[in-house]
Amino acid sequence: MIKAFIFDLDGVITDTAEYHYRGWKRLAEEEGLAFTREDNEHLRGVARRESLMLILKDRVYPEEQIREMMERKNNYYLAFIKEISPRDLLPGAKELLAEIRAAGLKNALGSASKNAAEVIERLGIRDLFDAVSDGFSVERQKPAPDLFLHAAAQLGLRAPECVVVEDAAAGIEAAIVGGFRSVGLGPAERVGRADIILPNLAGVRLTALLNAFEPIPPNDK
Ligand code: G6P
Ligand code: MG
Repeated sequence: MIKAFIFDLDGVITDTAEYHYRGWKRLAEEEGLAFTREDNEHLRGVARRESLMLILKDRVYPEEQIREMMERKNNYYLAFIKEISPRDLLPGAKELLAEIRAAGLKNALGSASKNAAEVIERLGIRDLFDAVSDGFSVERQKPAPDLFLHAAAQLGLRAPECVVVEDAAAGIEAAIVGGFRSVGLGPAERVGRADIILPNLAGVRLTALLNAFEPIPPNDK
């Protein structure tokens, strides 16, 4: 029985995945490091420090410099999100959140971002969430299941009662390891391990989703 949905934020509800990319791209250019959009695909859903480590590859930097680079990228990101408004909601996201609530089910946010609370405030959707789990909630980041387990616990539910909605390979992995059902948004090369794969949330209706997970048994009288 499905009782709740746990939504990732960046790339699912709003296109801040693009702003994270631009922030890292600018930092990489300043540091003379190669960093392409293709490289960025591996950073989706990956926390700030781990993202920087993937960009630095095997180069070794003192901790102080690592912190400075993380802060610099975050400042670029913060400048981007200052402009966010409800117009930046991805198609179908708010409609689905509202439909879930209207059906008596719950919504949680499960984002690795430390800026997630500010983004959902600016998008005007804070009230549609029963629980928010973000970059401050757990130590071990995706692909560990901890963040989604934290969200489920806040809702008072068990993993099999919740569906995780994600655009990142690391997020789908976290959902599988945690025992959650999952909807993957994007190409199969990225989210192919999800139970259900969709291009995005545009036109996605709750009843169709629930039926896809729990097909109504055929009437074989
Ligand atoms: C999400 C995004 C990642 C980002 C991470 C940390 O998982 O998909 O691109 O690196 O959050 O975000 P933060 O805002 O804390 O740097
Ligand atoms: Mg994401």
